[in-house]
Amino acid sequence: MLAIGSDHGGFALKQEIMKHLDEKGVAYKDFGTYSEDSVDYPVYGETIGKAVASGEYERGIVICGTGIGISIAANKVKGVRAALCGDCYSAEYTRRHNDANVLALGGRVTGPGLACKIVDTFLGNEFEGGRHERRVAEISDIESRN
Ligand code: RB5
Repeated sequence: MLAIGSDHGGFALKQEIMKHLDEKGVAYKDFGTYSEDSVDYPVYGETIGKAVASGEYERGIVICGTGIGISIAANKVKGVRAALCGDCYSAEYTRRHNDANVLALGGRVTGPGLACKIVDTFLGNEFEGGRHERRVAEISDIESRN
């Protein structure tokens, strides 16, 4: 199950992505925002981050205008590895090498067609493990030390 959330800058793209997920039969929960009224992206980054870090949701998608603010916020939640992706190569390799559990998108940067392909790529790839296991563990070590 997927958790999805955005601020007002990501609202329109979130609607497009949810339509795409509906067409593909992918289950998700929409944590808002529910209109284009101005809201604060850290709220949604934290909400989606916690939903994923708790284990209740397998992966998350966060969207703000650039994707930057909301990814920074989500990455403050322990256990979250949020990756801002504007292309399919990054979406593939952040799953395979970084075991990213949250995808961040820029609603004012990435068009809906590409964004949906990025989502499909992110959801369609698995972590490779092996040598990447150690590196991802090193990221968790940073969290523990700071
Ligand atoms: C909101 O105007 C905008 O700052 C936000 O969506 C995002 O781009 C922040 O990183």
